[in-house]
Amino acid sequence: MIKEIQSSETYLVRQEVLRKGKPIETCYFEGDDAETTMHFGIELNEKIIGIVSVYQVNSQLFDIENQFQIRGMAVLNEFQGNGFGSQLLAEAENYCTSQKASVIWFNAREKAVPFYKKSGYQTKGDSFEIPEVGIHFIMFKIN
Ligand SMILES: CC(C)(COP(=O)(O)OP(=O)(O)OC[C@H]1O[C@@H](n2cnc3c(N)ncnc32)[C@H](O)[C@@H]1OP(=O)(O)O)[C@@H](O)C(=O)NCCC(=O)NCCS
Repeated sequence: MIKEIQSSETYLVRQEVLRKGKPIETCYFEGDDAETTMHFGIELNEKIIGIVSVYQVNSQLFDIENQFQIRGMAVLNEFQGNGFGSQLLAEAENYCTSQKASVIWFNAREKAVPFYKKSGYQTKGDSFEIPEVGIHFIMFKIN
């Protein structure tokens, strides 16, 4: 059910789940079309219901090359709590491992921190505010 998708196929789910009520332009992320970027989607009845994207981006917080960042992790409301999010996360991790990622990191919404902890991620440092999106924590896993 999980497949590679184009960046353009992520926008509607990003908007619905992550940027509710905001213009579609807020759903275009830097690096979306970079060669090293990968987008995955879960399709149900010919509709994308969950997405995740992976970017080769180093964070200054980790003193090592070839880090990968996960962004845009989202499952449509009505499909949450059915294991789709963890499947997507596992797929993103597999891709990172295939690229020999040293660290996988991301900005996690406060509400999603327990979800990521279940997959072995830990927080780093204090929470911080992303304007118009909310409180976040940096989370990571050494790959
Ligand atoms: C966070 C999100 C991607 C998780 O996807 P999901 O399909 O609902 O999660 P899963 O069903 O795969 O859950 C996996 C495990 O995490 C737990 N979990 C999921 N969301 C949780 C939450 N907010 N708080 C606590 N536990 C949570 C589930 O109970 C499940 O535990 P189990 O394995 O013991 O049963 C999804 O809920 C979502 O899109 N939320 C809104 C957007 C968002 O916050 N995205 C993350 C941005 S950083």
